[in-house]
Amino acid sequence: TFEKSLRPQYLSEYIGQDDLKKELSVYIKAAKQREETLDHVLLYGPPGLGKTTLAMVIANEMEANIKTTSGPAIEKTGDLAALLNELQPGDILFIDEIHRLPKTVEEMLYSAMEDFSVDIVVGQGPTAHPVHLPLPPFTLIGATTRAGLLSAPFRDRFGIVEHMKYYNTEDLQDIVLRSADIFHTKIYDQGAHEIARRSRGTPRIANRLLKRVRDFAQVSNDGNVDVDIVDTSLKMLGVDNEGLDATDIKLLKTMIEFYNGGPVGVSTLAANIGEEVNTIEEMYEPYLLQIGYIKRTARGRVVTDNGYHHLNYPINRDN
Ligand code: ADE
Repeated sequence: TFEKSLRPQYLSEYIGQDDLKKELSVYIKAAKQREETLDHVLLYGPPGLGKTTLAMVIANEMEANIKTTSGPAIEKTGDLAALLNELQPGDILFIDEIHRLPKTVEEMLYSAMEDFSVDIVVGQGPTAHPVHLPLPPFTLIGATTRAGLLSAPFRDRFGIVEHMKYYNTEDLQDIVLRSADIFHTKIYDQGAHEIARRSRGTPRIANRLLKRVRDFAQVSNDGNVDVDIVDTSLKMLGVDNEGLDATDIKLLKTMIEFYNGGPVGVSTLAANIGEEVNTIEEMYEPYLLQIGYIKRTARGRVVTDNGYHHLNYPINRDN
């Protein structure tokens, strides 16, 4: 069978991120007309918004092969040299979590990106000697949660830098409808809208919730997803009316109950709720900041009035 993939293959199938798609389609068209590789691309934004999917879409649009790896997987310059050595003309190299590359590896990438060549040392001890390795023209696509995590010289070597934003409810609803169609799941518009509204602007979350709601619908009624089964399932999954999950709520409650709404440092919070600092900074804080339930101050994070109201706490703080 030819199951359509949940991941869109082309820009025309990719829902949302309209400004970004408009820009990218111009750069792709221009590069193809000139029969050149696309400039190096840096994609940044919160997890789950489709950075990897977009890298694959770019490869399809460029009719290029894509090799995928991640920052933490490249431990030594030798690992990178081996990857670069296998590149064919026009290939795309995708590095996820590119901010986690070791410094020495990052510096080796500078010349690879700028001159399509690297200087490596071959052999050890008295037989060690430098070798100049020319590379075929290629495109590096890097993905990171925040552009600010990269050093300025590294960032400057990407000709195309694109910010991925949280999706609005309408776009997420279209994504949910598309995914339901691929799953052969019957879903009402209102059901899709409710999943979309409670997915924190994130397609990965919307698709995950759709899968779970579909399980509940299949077992408890005729398998059709309506707004009631969505509401019942999301409650059971611990997703509240605004889409906050158990961790979001634990984070807000800890700030209010133990720190009077803040300010509190992120490492203190992390220790309190048993999550990694990185997880809080990359997965939880950005959305809570976006919807205005917390804000950042010089002395740490504070819960806003809206945050207090959402949890039905009286405002009683000392900040
Ligand atoms: N699935 C996940 N993200 C998507 C997007 N942006 N467009 C279409 N399908 C998706």
